[in-house]
Amino acid sequence: RIFFRANASSLTSMANDQGIAGSPRQQLAKLFEESLKLTIPEELDIDPAIAPCQNPKFGDYQCNNAMGLWSKVKGKSTQYKNPQQIGQAIKANLPASEMIDGSSIAGPGFVNVKLSGHWIAKCIQNMLMDGIETWAPKLSVKRAVVDFSSPNIAKEMHVGHLRSTIIGDTLACMLEYSNVEVLRRNHVGDWGTQFGMLIEFLFEKFPSLEVVNDQAIGDLEAFYKASKLRFDSDPAFKERAQRAVVSLQAGEEKYRNAWAEICKISRSGYEKVYEHLGVQLEEKGESFYNPYIPNALELLNKEGLIEESEGARVIFIEGKKIPLIVVKRDGGYNYASTDLAALWYRLNEEKAEWIIYVTDVGQREHFEMLFAAAKRAGWLPADDRTYPKASHVGFGLVLGEDGKRFRTRSTETVKLVDLLIEAKSRCKTALIERGKDKEWTEEELDKTAEAVGYGAVKYADLKNNRTTNYTFSFDQMLNDKGNTAVYLLYAHARICSIIRKSGKDIEELKKVGKIDLAHPDERVLGLHLLQFAEVVEDSCTNLLPNGLCEYLYNLSEDFTGFYTNCQVVGSAEETSRLLLCEATAVVMRKCFHLLGITPVYKI
Ligand code: ARG
Repeated sequence: RIFFRANASSLTSMANDQGIAGSPRQQLAKLFEESLKLTIPEELDIDPAIAPCQNPKFGDYQCNNAMGLWSKVKGKSTQYKNPQQIGQAIKANLPASEMIDGSSIAGPGFVNVKLSGHWIAKCIQNMLMDGIETWAPKLSVKRAVVDFSSPNIAKEMHVGHLRSTIIGDTLACMLEYSNVEVLRRNHVGDWGTQFGMLIEFLFEKFPSLEVVNDQAIGDLEAFYKASKLRFDSDPAFKERAQRAVVSLQAGEEKYRNAWAEICKISRSGYEKVYEHLGVQLEEKGESFYNPYIPNALELLNKEGLIEESEGARVIFIEGKKIPLIVVKRDGGYNYASTDLAALWYRLNEEKAEWIIYVTDVGQREHFEMLFAAAKRAGWLPADDRTYPKASHVGFGLVLGEDGKRFRTRSTETVKLVDLLIEAKSRCKTALIERGKDKEWTEEELDKTAEAVGYGAVKYADLKNNRTTNYTFSFDQMLNDKGNTAVYLLYAHARICSIIRKSGKDIEELKKVGKIDLAHPDERVLGLHLLQFAEVVEDSCTNLLPNGLCEYLYNLSEDFTGFYTNCQVVGSAEETSRLLLCEATAVVMRKCFHLLGITPVYKI
């Protein structure tokens, strides 16, 4: 197996091979790389450490390598007596570039850099001409699996699955934007011993399977509970259910068909949720990996990983008290055996270089054990900075306003959809209160309410660090002030209306106009726009979408600062400022798109 390391300080490749200049951080890193080589030629393997300046007074970006280099050459170098001197040398060796306006040294050898306003303006202008796709970060990973949503057949699809759907979709969108081919996988729980009782119960209720449909079977969750009750109270039923499991696993047609029918009904439930949210997924459920389990376990066995323990077959993991059970005492497979086979399949058949699992934090232990086993077997490299790599994206609970675990009124699948419908209808009411029903067509009203309502639900989830619990509150998420999707969508619509009302043809301005960032608020906004790709890159690397939300919110604040202090329409700088408005709208729209939110243009 080929393992590879992402180059430079992140997994972004610095290569300029597609004519894409890269973000300011990437371009600065290239310049500093040159400088570091000249400064300390014997340390060629140093990645430039470039970060935005803490205090904008000192500059826009900072290179923080001097201290680290000093610790390497201390006592050995005849040239350098302290880290400041190394900083001085890094500064002096920096190649001349149109992007840099000046540099200075601070503290123990930090090199501060101020970017050229002309250069920032030019980058924005180029983006307006060539499209926001040209700002996409380039990752060294070519193909990734994002395993998300993944509800369980015949069990409730709860808000945890909703979180997984929302977070997983955003991660997939960000990777796709970064030119990674993403296999969006719905790892539904469609296998296990519970199907024995479900199938027997189904046969009992509906002797002829043809008549079974959504309506007849009703609520699958209730169906599941009723079959469980029967299983626990009736030994004869229990025996039949156990036999049904065997028949199903042996592939007997009658049983396969019944199983497929149950899956189909469940699927139509959760697909409704995806339809509302506009999320695309490909189902490869647990059953898909069944044929691969024996081979995967055999490979692990050959590596000497599998041991016998209390009648089960297990893998011991260093530092864990309880081993990973891969074959149960009764000889059956479980969640872990399926995940091992799925991991093997994704690495070897699908050739994925990054495999990302989005589930609640409660499953952290399971994934830690899974990845540790794969590392022991040599399927994955031991070093986490090396690819292929597997990551668990864990998230916290959704709480109700009472501080307890959030529950939809009933536990049925449809109620999750109802949640979305309620968000939409509240937005519609708010729009009608503002008289929009008189201004807009019914369709416009409906589309806007949907975009804002669904956007609000998604954004409320995404804006928090995913590992924390968050409170589900319609009142909070639908507030048009503060850090909400409603506020941000309206901010975008307002920018669009500024451009519309100017009466200028923005496409024409893009061709002939020039951006000038003379006013400090223009420069702040311009620099922030340019940092978009860095934020996407970081959100991908850390698998933290809240970074992008924070960026979007700050961007709209910077826009407000600019708009408050810089007259746009009717000023001498009108063309430049309209172009800055347009660039802001373009970047905001891209953020919305990456967050799975539909932008609105009128408000
Ligand atoms: N079906 C599982 C659940 O509802 C989530 C599956 C996550 N993916 C995986 N490959 N284990 O908890």
